[in-house]
Amino acid sequence: MEARTANRTCLAIVLAAGEGTRMASARPKVLHAVAGKSLLAHVLEAVAKSGVTAIAVVIGPGQDGVAAAARRIRPDAAIFTQHARRGTAHAVLAAKAAIEQGTDDILIVYGDTPLIRPATLARLRAPLAAGAALAVLSFRPADPTGYGRLIMQGDELVAIREEADASAGERAIALCNGGLMALAGNSALAILGKIGDHNRKREFYLTDAVEIARGMKLRAVAVEVEEDDVRGINTKGQLAEAEAAAQQRLRKAALDSGVTLVAPETVFLCADTKFGRDVVVEPYVIFGEKVTVEDGAVIHSFSHLSGAHVGKGVSIGPFARLRPGTRLGEGSRIGNFVEVKEAVVEAGAKANHLSYIGDAFVGANANVGAGTITCNYDGANKHRTTIGKDAFIGSNSALVAPVEIGEGAYVGSGSVITENVPPDALALARGRQTVKEGWASRLRGLKSLGKKKAHSRD
Ligand code: UD1
Ligand code: CA
Repeated sequence: MEARTANRTCLAIVLAAGEGTRMASARPKVLHAVAGKSLLAHVLEAVAKSGVTAIAVVIGPGQDGVAAAARRIRPDAAIFTQHARRGTAHAVLAAKAAIEQGTDDILIVYGDTPLIRPATLARLRAPLAAGAALAVLSFRPADPTGYGRLIMQGDELVAIREEADASAGERAIALCNGGLMALAGNSALAILGKIGDHNRKREFYLTDAVEIARGMKLRAVAVEVEEDDVRGINTKGQLAEAEAAAQQRLRKAALDSGVTLVAPETVFLCADTKFGRDVVVEPYVIFGEKVTVEDGAVIHSFSHLSGAHVGKGVSIGPFARLRPGTRLGEGSRIGNFVEVKEAVVEAGAKANHLSYIGDAFVGANANVGAGTITCNYDGANKHRTTIGKDAFIGSNSALVAPVEIGEGAYVGSGSVITENVPPDALALARGRQTVKEGWASRLRGLKSLGKKKAHSRD
């Protein structure tokens, strides 16, 4: 069945209009993120991978941000504007010009169902290749509130009733509409053109397509899938549920690819997190966007990584923070309470304790002592610090950028380095120590004398 689907042309229409009203948010709904990626990106990527031949995205008026995001994700997508929010069928018809191009299949995907998988979209299209005019994805949600209910007769789909229009008996139906629909291209416009707005919300419901198709003696079917594939997001609560489901999938994929997650439920990943083999991630680690971890690296507990490349065999944390632009070479070590940003740390270099390394280059095998800070910001601009290979930075030093520590040079502990240090030199930039012999015992002598005098006055 799927092989036949693969030969058919298909237009996918992604409905992305609508504000974040029910999300209680100023941000358009489809630009909210799950696993570090927008709902729209999840949906567009799944659609593109499912083997469609054209993609249309329907946005609301003035939603330039949504249009820009869609173009960034799929430059080949055609963008249409639905000028007033009059319902899902009305939104589909905003892309009428694309439908008129005449593809074998039309796939309608809601922009707020981010967990949809390419294989599930292919399953949805399969009945069209077998002669159905319409197919929807069905599921049995733990909580059906807000979803349309499917009215079935045997294995034929008879109607979809929106919750607002459903009778008490219809609301008791457990089988719900996943919000995705496949329509045969040759009857799609005829069906869509007949949808009216005679319902409680005065909207043009795409779901009415089912009864109309049946009235035209066409066949409509439902393909049942797991809840996670079609979780629709209308509220922040549903966004959090989708996040939890996405994290479960990502953790499973990481485990299956050979990553050791000691306590998977405590590790948070992004859709684009990449792992090599034999990586160990201890409990309570958070991965933000764009992190790559190579073979054999160990991420100790309570570390937070984003925009970082972690080389082979690197050790991070516990309590390390890697920010965007961090590149850690093979076998380097970033220890506890160390923050790294926009910095290259070459192979074998170490910063084991309590440091900030920002806008910096740390050469191979250099040792950055505890408490070292790169002072990269002068209040107006950021400047770079370069530490040559094999250099040794004594503890609690401040490297005031722009500054360069030459290869193999030493910096004495507690130095404030404001000028370049040549290779192999020693730089000391701190107050010279003075020692006053016997000073402490003289002080104690004076104190005890003072106490005796005070007593004699009583
Ligand atoms: C819809 C379905 C419901 C299904 C549920 C699954 C209809 C009438 N109802 O309900 O049967 O169970 O999804 O999640 O289709 N949109 C537009 N323009 C509009 C209206 C909506 O672009 O005028 C877009 C929204 O941005 C959203 C999608 O279409 O991405 C679905 O709309 P939404 O209002 O979320 O529909 P639901 O009430 O969730
Ligand atoms: Ca929805």
